Order: sequence, then C-alpha cells, then structure tokens
Amino acid sequence: MNLLSAQNLSHSFEYELFHNVSLDLYSKESIAIIGMSGSGKSTLLHLLSTLLQPNEGKVKILGKEVAAMSKKELALLKRSQLGLVFQSHYLFKGFSAFENLEVAQILSQEKIDESLLKKLDIEHCIHQKVTELSGGQQQRVSIARVLTKKPTIIFADEPTGNLDSKTAMEVMRLFFEYCQEHNAGMVLVTHDNHLASQCDKVFELSNKELKRIK
Ligand SMILES: Nc1ncnc2c1ncn2[C@@H]1O[C@H](COP(=O)(O)OP(=O)(O)OP(=O)(O)O)[C@@H](O)[C@H]1O
Ligand SMILES: [Mg+2]
Repeated sequence: MNLLSAQNLSHSFEYELFHNVSLDLYSKESIAIIGMSGSGKSTLLHLLSTLLQPNEGKVKILGKEVAAMSKKELALLKRSQLGLVFQSHYLFKGFSAFENLEVAQILSQEKIDESLLKKLDIEHCIHQKVTELSGGQQQRVSIARVLTKKPTIIFADEPTGNLDSKTAMEVMRLFFEYCQEHNAGMVLVTHDNHLASQCDKVFELSNKELKRIK
C-alpha cells in the first residue's frame, strides 16, 4: 500500500534548496535520505511530514493530497498517523518520562507498551524527570513516545544522533520491526551511511536533486 507519495517538490528559502524531488513510500518499507549538511534534508522531511508546504509539487499521504486537507483533517492526521522523531526532541521538561508517554497515550488512545520500554532500556529511569535523564535516554524516551502513538508513517531526523553505535543499531532494529509488524513505513534522515544502508531504499540529496543510490 502506498503510504506517501511526493511529486516534483521544489523548495527555496534564500536560494533554491532542491527541485523535482519525487519519492514513494510503501507499507513495511524504510527510506533513508543522506546528503551534506545544509543540503536540505530536514527541510525535505518537513515537507513530507506536512510541517511545511512546498513551493511547488504535491505530497499525498494515505492517498490524500496534503494541500487539500482542512486544518482539522491535518491535525487529526498528524495526531493519529504520523510519528515525528527529531534530534532535538520535544519532551515536556517538567514531567517525568512516563508522564510524557501518558500524554501520547491519551492523545492517540493507544496503550503504553511495556515491552517497548524494556527494548529501549528505559524502564529503570521511566519515573525520573526528563531533565534528570541523559541526552541519549531522552532520545529513547522520545522514540518510545512516538511509537506509543502507533503511527503509520515514522519521520525520523537523525533519531540516533545522541546514541552510541550499539544502542543506535538496537533502536534502528526496533523501528524496522515496528514497520513490519504494523504495516508502517519510515523516512529516515541520517549522516550515517551504515545506518542508511540498512534501509530498503537510499536517496542522496546533492546538487539540488534527490538521486536514488540504493
Ligand atoms: N525556516 C528557514 N528559513 C530560512 N532558511 C532555512 C530555514 N530552514 C532551513 N533553512 C536553510 O536551508 C538550508 C538547508 O537546511 P536543512 O536544515 O534542510 O539542511 P540539512 O540537510 O538538514 O542539514 P544538516 O545535515 O546540517 O541537518 C540551510 O542553509 C538553512 O539555513
Ligand atoms: Mg538537518
């Protein structure tokens, strides 16, 4: 099933970042986007995940064009189908890790998956305040929060940037398993070619174009 289809996207800020970018994401599929710093990877992820409107081109999610959605439809889509993991995670700082997961649970009406906490190795610190956790622990809590929502599409921008390579591999395996088990898809932005190569498809953003390299 096609989860996401981007057609001929172009985007500029002060200058043109990229043009004619097209890609498709299907259920159980993972796509990596690599490219130099400043090439526009995060911007592209923002276009794909409805956070930003492209200057030109279309994004369709679950068969529906994003530009044609009402504010309400878009909010519902984001809340129930899209999972965003960013390097600077937006956990609620005054709350404990567990309370952050409870917020996701309430918004999506999905249960908190205890096995997920174990797999992410955060069950021992789940009742601590977010500010008392290490950067890598916070990152894993934000991944747990996103997966608690049971999203259909995961958008992840350097989700393992704060993790050592072994933990990063385990977290990636969790994402891949999640996609297989829930018929979900993932778009991953990374600088790490090794992580990228584990995805089904790899694209490189360079010279203002997106080229498929795997
Ligand atoms: N909201 C914005 N307003 C103006 N310029 C922006 C905005 N967001 C990004 N840019 C510019 O667009 C360019 C691409 O930024 P982007 O964050 O997409 O790059 P990136 O490939 O993700 O880089 P990195 O690998 O360092 O994260 C940069 O030159 C950046 O300054
Ligand atoms: Mg970026």
